[in-house]
Amino acid sequence: MTAVNDHTASAPDRVVIFDTTLRDGEQSPGASMNLEEKLRIATVLAEMGVDIIEAGFPIASNGDFEAVQEIAKTIRGPVIAGLARANPRDIDRAAEAVKPAQRSRIHTFISTSPLHMKYKLQMEPTAVLNAVTESVTRARNHTDDVEWSAEDGSRTEPDFLCRCVEAAIKAGATTINIPDTVGYAVPEEFAQIFRMLRERVPGVEDVILSAHCHNDLGLAVANSLAAVEAGARQVECTINGLGERAGNAALEEIVMALRTRHDVMPFGTGIHTESIMKASRLVSTVTGFTVQPNKAIVGNNAFAHESGIHQDGMLKHASTYEIMTPESVGLVRSTLVMGKHSGRNAFRTKLKELGFDDIGDNAFEEVFGRFKDLADKKKDLYDEDIVALVDDELARVNDRIRFVSLGVMAGSIGQPSAQIVLQLDDETRWSQTSGNGPVDSVFKAISELVPHHARLALYQVHAVTGGTDAQAEVTVRLEEDGKTVIGQGADHDTLVASARAYIHALNKLLVKRQKTAPEALSA
Ligand code: KIV
Ligand code: ZN
Repeated sequence: MTAVNDHTASAPDRVVIFDTTLRDGEQSPGASMNLEEKLRIATVLAEMGVDIIEAGFPIASNGDFEAVQEIAKTIRGPVIAGLARANPRDIDRAAEAVKPAQRSRIHTFISTSPLHMKYKLQMEPTAVLNAVTESVTRARNHTDDVEWSAEDGSRTEPDFLCRCVEAAIKAGATTINIPDTVGYAVPEEFAQIFRMLRERVPGVEDVILSAHCHNDLGLAVANSLAAVEAGARQVECTINGLGERAGNAALEEIVMALRTRHDVMPFGTGIHTESIMKASRLVSTVTGFTVQPNKAIVGNNAFAHESGIHQDGMLKHASTYEIMTPESVGLVRSTLVMGKHSGRNAFRTKLKELGFDDIGDNAFEEVFGRFKDLADKKKDLYDEDIVALVDDELARVNDRIRFVSLGVMAGSIGQPSAQIVLQLDDETRWSQTSGNGPVDSVFKAISELVPHHARLALYQVHAVTGGTDAQAEVTVRLEEDGKTVIGQGADHDTLVASARAYIHALNKLLVKRQKTAPEALSA
């Protein structure tokens, strides 16, 4: 296997990794994150060696602005980028937000396809061309590092795309990004756009070409790699492929494809691939978007071998069925067995093994207490149990509504009812309600204390491990006034896990309500 971290960012075979989990990823319905969560993700991205973090869309809301600014102030290493449409207000706001960064970038975009220009922008092509020059010029007055994107670039008429790219370069853009905004392109066609730009546009050799692919046809990673073959040296991607609709190209898939198939794609990145699982888990916990078990690289089954023939092959030689090692993406083959006699030290070591090396002291104490309770009730404790507990605890660090206790009456005799105690900011309150079943009673009791008119759009229970004593992991999706939030909760008791998930979703709804979007955003 080839080491990839020894490439300097300017080497000709070096692919720059631009992570947009905090911007395009956050735009997927229900994935919104608060400031503290964004900072945690940005920290892990920086540790992982991401070159550029697109931290948000500063004009979108005050919350977005503050998050980008805070990331720019705190995170050292990667370039911090802020997104802006092609207008002075957006660009100035983005410039202000990224200003504190060690290295900052303004990423400005406008649609260039006939469809978008006519219906979305209602602008003539000449006006769009002027806007390209004006926006890039304005951004360059704020910083030397300016990226220009042709939204819906893959459906743009080739001559017009070349003219826009030329205008952006002349105005001072240093990176030119071609998005496949609606995930429509196929690899050869997308690669051809990059070859065309390299052949036809004056000055293209002085800028970095970039690919930004959406996954509507499941081709985002293939299209990104095709673009790299054709000369792109930056790819825009997200952890777990998070993003609008079917998502963006998955960072972990691009990076591991380049690493594993270096023989046919001789390009490197600066990513420490051993941090991939940690980043994946964190993004999944924070957003509540669980990773499908068979997802490439980071799915639970990605390195599991169950069939007899495969297991036999693996025992004889791992490379019979394993094209990359679990360790290379940060999956450790666990050595420490945990049980009710394990102490704080062993537990801390286990957390480190599982990639949780930075949980604060308070969270540690909470998780340790819950681990001890669980160990009393459950005979075999697996790593998955501990991951579920930590994820559950970290997900609620800043919550204003907190679970205290729950009692439930259920069964076929009498009316089901629930009594719940919650902490609401600094006040402890309780409520008792009956309902159509235990879950309905629990949710009604919570709603009495936290009134809202959100609709329960999804309630899902999943057993963390096998066995009837397994922990339950519950996912809840709530919808209120067009806003979607996802909450998760884990516990040995399914009803407590349900209460925790519902409370988690309500906390996210509170954050969402505080966000004020001044106008519809189009990116
Ligand atoms: O998909 C897209 O076109 C975008 C641009 C704003 C880069 O996200
Ligand atoms: Zn996008």
